[in-house]
Amino acid sequence: MSSPVVLGIESSCDETGAGLVRDGRLLGSALASSMDEHARFGGVVPEVAARAHVHALMPVVRRALDEAGLRARDIGAVAVTTGPGLSGALQVGLAGAKGLAYALGVPLYGVHHLAGHVAADTLVHGPLPDPCVVLIVSGGHTSLLLVRDLARDPIVHLGDTLDDAAGECFDKVARVFGLPYPGGPAMDRTAREGDPRAVPFPRPLATGPSGHRFAFSFSGLKTAAARWAEHHRAAGPALPLADGAASFQEAVADVLTRKAVAACTEHGVSTLVVVGGVAANSRVRSLAEERCAAAGIALRVPPLRLCTDNGAMIAAVGDLLVRAGAAPAPLEVSVDPSAPL
Ligand code: KG4
Ligand code: ZN
Repeated sequence: MSSPVVLGIESSCDETGAGLVRDGRLLGSALASSMDEHARFGGVVPEVAARAHVHALMPVVRRALDEAGLRARDIGAVAVTTGPGLSGALQVGLAGAKGLAYALGVPLYGVHHLAGHVAADTLVHGPLPDPCVVLIVSGGHTSLLLVRDLARDPIVHLGDTLDDAAGECFDKVARVFGLPYPGGPAMDRTAREGDPRAVPFPRPLATGPSGHRFAFSFSGLKTAAARWAEHHRAAGPALPLADGAASFQEAVADVLTRKAVAACTEHGVSTLVVVGGVAANSRVRSLAEERCAAAGIALRVPPLRLCTDNGAMIAAVGDLLVRAGAAPAPLEVSVDPSAPL
């Protein structure tokens, strides 16, 4: 007998996502974004995001069902992001998920947002090898993880950022450069015309509190990029933006991929998975490819639409939990905005 269709709901930040997964296969998904509403503020406004989820949630679930050619009564379990994320935004998704699970009489599963990012890759490349190293790089997180069985084993943090997340650093530096929000994609586009060797930005190789080698630090690089922009603005009329963006992007990609490959080598792991919004960055991808190939490591990067926040990745974790026989969450489960992994 095949396992049930799992509906996944994601609402931790500014994307409202729904996805339907059964037996590791993506059946349908849909996404709505409130990104445009936040653009003029230069960052996500929590209250605006929460209200947008209220409007988008049920239409997004409907669109995912339509894409899959399914009806609501075909849903056999509901999985929802319970954290980490914006409290109000998470609560909208959880309330909707609870209502659906209750009305349909199906189990509810709470999912950690980062586990979702990790699982996204399974929808295109199949089950994750055990063990694998996962580099999660998004607007909120920059971590190197040692992952075994996602449904059963705790994820081990090999290193995290000590200050800014890589995506946050992209967004903040882009703002200083006068590029539109969200900054990551804008920096990526601008960098295409620039020389990555033009500006010798620092390569922050921070050592974590316990002296381990896999922690990250991006605030020094952010400050260096801001100083560079200020210096050029003061000195002359035109900011050599493309060179600045290409050099900044190169510094981030260099640090991320160097540490990720070192983590694989040190832990004897032969597969690296790169997920999260910054995995969409063209230079992070190409440098990861180069360095993994040189080190004999298999690289898995999900396609762009699965790299950024989406509902399918939450459904993917729900599907793993259902198939592993995990206990569902009680209907009183609440959000955990600052959940540790
Ligand atoms: O995973 P995600 O959609 O949301 C969370 O933060 O959980 O990641 C969003 C982040 C933003 O900081 C955005 O600027 C960054 O991913 N990003 C990129 C690119 N596309 C998205 N950063 C660099 N280059 C890109 N092409
Ligand atoms: Zn995310």
